[in-house]
Amino acid sequence: MINIAIDGPSGAGKSTIAKIIAKKMGITYLDTGAMYRTVALYVVNQGKNPSSEEDVVPLLKEIQISYIKVGDDNRICLNGKDVSEDIRHHEISKYASEVSKIPEVRAFLVEKQREIAKNNDVVLDGRDITSHVLPDTKYKFYLTASPEERAKRRYSELVQKGQQVEYEKILTDIKDRDYNDMNRKVSPLVKTPDSVEIDSTKMSLEEVADTIMSYIDSINNRDKLPDTKNASLQVLRKEAKELNIDANKEIKKKTKKKGGFYRFLAAFVRKVMGIIWPTKIYFKDNFPQNTKAIVVCNHYTALDPCVIISKLLGKNGKVLMKDEIMKNPVVAKVATELGCIPVKRGEADIAAVKNILSALSKNQPVLIFPEGTRNRSGSKEMLPLKQGVATFAIKAKAPIVPLLYYKKTGPFKRNKLIVGAPFYLDEFYDKKANSVKEEATQLIEDKMKQLRAELDILVEKCRGNKKKYFKYVKEHSKELM
Ligand code: DC
Repeated sequence: MINIAIDGPSGAGKSTIAKIIAKKMGITYLDTGAMYRTVALYVVNQGKNPSSEEDVVPLLKEIQISYIKVGDDNRICLNGKDVSEDIRHHEISKYASEVSKIPEVRAFLVEKQREIAKNNDVVLDGRDITSHVLPDTKYKFYLTASPEERAKRRYSELVQKGQQVEYEKILTDIKDRDYNDMNRKVSPLVKTPDSVEIDSTKMSLEEVADTIMSYIDSINNRDKLPDTKNASLQVLRKEAKELNIDANKEIKKKTKKKGGFYRFLAAFVRKVMGIIWPTKIYFKDNFPQNTKAIVVCNHYTALDPCVIISKLLGKNGKVLMKDEIMKNPVVAKVATELGCIPVKRGEADIAAVKNILSALSKNQPVLIFPEGTRNRSGSKEMLPLKQGVATFAIKAKAPIVPLLYYKKTGPFKRNKLIVGAPFYLDEFYDKKANSVKEEATQLIEDKMKQLRAELDILVEKCRGNKKKYFKYVKEHSKELM
């Protein structure tokens, strides 16, 4: 059976995402939160206190939960009556959180959930699915978002349904519920170490769903992989035996990884880079992990790309470089190992465009120098930006991470690389006008300039006092950007 478990705090978008995933995969969706809500509804309808074990436990034997399918929707029924709408009232959320603390309620509902998961391909969302209900499933996700973003989403959802609510109240309730759900004694909400965490604060629903789908694909592919190593060794041994040659020698020759030498050379370049090109990276926490991103930076010297890829983007990273470097075959092979995407300058290079979009779709960060060439003057002013970055960021709906070399770079200098907060060009996603690229490029330029302006203020504040400067950077790294 396929059992996909999605846990996370209230309002992180779990149910919407779980529904999308279930639909895409043609399987059932089970909203376990709705079960707790249904129990809470029954308890309050009986005039009992949802926080009291003595009140709630005896009622459990009177509760029958079932489902009816209406179109794509699975409606939840309490003792045969469809209560799908009633359980969505804001008050019921609080009561559900209360009844969910009672061990007998949890045992009662977990048993039902396991039964459904045993007999159906199903996407389940909740708080304890990955940790307790289905700890052995291989598809585990932890979906989260900032409390403010979650409150904003819940607020619009309730207003749309015509409920009268206040944003501040919803935010406080969300924080209280987080506390309750994460600190209760039985099966609290936790992110298990084997769950894939997705922070949806700045992601659209489609992006979250696509990310989960690509993880599901990669988990499936990983499992589908035959034991290639052993299979191919067997074949090689057989071949060698037939030809009456030394099997071990033959196996070694045939299984030798291609490009090993250049991979080694690339690793060497990375190491050397760190020594001759010492670079301190500030606000590294701003760099998003395991997700697509377009990384933009001002550009002084030919080795900037190697340094950034070695020190920040890592093995998964890609960098756009002019294709002239590919003329020398050794340099070309090392550059490829380092993640270079060659681009022909001054013309529409379709292959480069495809490579960039393909890297982004595989959640790889791509470094682009938007000035298009090095700033040989070494001045702080940037050259006019090319419009390609905006096009890719809009097409791939990728965040842009601005980087800034604070001063002209060079060997054996104290090069300082600042990582700014990622931003999206989402305001341009649906615009069709010709001026979009221009406006979006202007926004990128503004963000890069803003990063320098913020740094200038910081440096000015701490002028002449290095210790103070580093302390400040450490303490304020998040709020500054
Ligand atoms: O996801 P939701 O907001 O509809 O869930 C309502 C409450 O139920 C929530 O406060 C926590 C609880 N819950 C739980 O304890 N375990 C689950 N698997 C699902 C929900």
